[in-house]
Amino acid sequence: MKKKLLSAILSMTMVAALLAGCGSTAETAAPAADAAAPAAEEAAPAAEEAAPAAEEAAPAAEEEAAPAAAGQKVGVSMPTKDLQRWNQDGANMEKELTEAGYEVDLQYANNDVPTQLSQVENMISGGCSVLVIAAIEGSSLGEALDMAKEANIPVIAYDRLIMDSDAVSYYATFDNYKVGTVQGTYVKDQLDLDNAAGPFNIEFTAGDPGDNNAGFFFNGAYDVLKPYIDEGKLVVKSGQTKFEDVATPTWGTDVAQSRAENILSSYYADGTDLDVWLCSNDSTALGVENALAANYNGKYPIITGQDCDIENTKNMIAGKQSMSVFKDTRTLASQVVKMVGQILTGATVDVNDTETYNNNVITVPSFLCEPVFADANNYKEILIDSGYYTEDQLK
Ligand code: BGC
Repeated sequence: MKKKLLSAILSMTMVAALLAGCGSTAETAAPAADAAAPAAEEAAPAAEEAAPAAEEAAPAAEEEAAPAAAGQKVGVSMPTKDLQRWNQDGANMEKELTEAGYEVDLQYANNDVPTQLSQVENMISGGCSVLVIAAIEGSSLGEALDMAKEANIPVIAYDRLIMDSDAVSYYATFDNYKVGTVQGTYVKDQLDLDNAAGPFNIEFTAGDPGDNNAGFFFNGAYDVLKPYIDEGKLVVKSGQTKFEDVATPTWGTDVAQSRAENILSSYYADGTDLDVWLCSNDSTALGVENALAANYNGKYPIITGQDCDIENTKNMIAGKQSMSVFKDTRTLASQVVKMVGQILTGATVDVNDTETYNNNVITVPSFLCEPVFADANNYKEILIDSGYYTEDQLK
């Protein structure tokens, strides 16, 4: 990951990116796609915990995509079934694409890069007209992307940017930097950092270095909190403040948990209170929460997260996690289905950011959706009233 480059790009474009939001769009011409022959279906079963009611999500996507659909197959490559969010993403994509009349080849790669490579290659040889890929590792899809380019098959990077390739046509995601700023701002407000005397102790846990999003999340949060660290109001007892030091390969709960256990036993076992553990997402927050439960008796810290996974939402309700950034997977799926339709009809494709996401080869035209803040006070409105979860799922 070219973090310096990203930071430089971000500092120039952050304000524009944050102001753009989901509502305002620019447009770029869609490459025409060849019609594809239908081939054998290998659709994955729907996720057990998938959102029960995505009907209201965005009917516009179906209307706009429908004329392009007849006889077209769309390949959807998801990284893993291990994390709840990708099950929901896959299920929502499959549902919306099917309702719009497409054939869908949905595959999960078990967080294994060679598996994802061969699944994507099969989608290409199986006649998919468009590929939608949430990469396990942004930089590891080279061969498959070359094949796609040769076959004139447009590729949409889904949620995670695909790196080091000019074969990426579009990128659809949530505003990743903003996810981090929402987390950092939450901590700043909760501790009233501008007025409180402090000092407060904080630790950081970031995401997978192979995922381009992870640096954006971390930088967004760190940029908000850095002034307070510099002035000594926030203290990082472990001294681990660099992305490389706090990253969590594979985003694994167990990986985050064992690092948290080490930090707790090295720096907080003497009764020192921990005020905040800034976690980039819910799978890592869960690891930290497990470590705290087993290794820490002090004042319970503020803990941030992202995704509003069921387990973490339950923890928010129980007071074991303070907040989670909600990225409604229905919104992203609807946007991507709309883009697929626009690509296949040769229409202009909605994008709202053409500057932020450089993949080391090209700057990929992107559509950034807005993340939303959730906590124990507003989760009913955001997660239940919107049909994302039922009340029973959170019991
Ligand atoms: C996604 C997050 C998710 C993480 C782990 C990131 O690329 O944007 O929503 O928590 O991957 O799966």
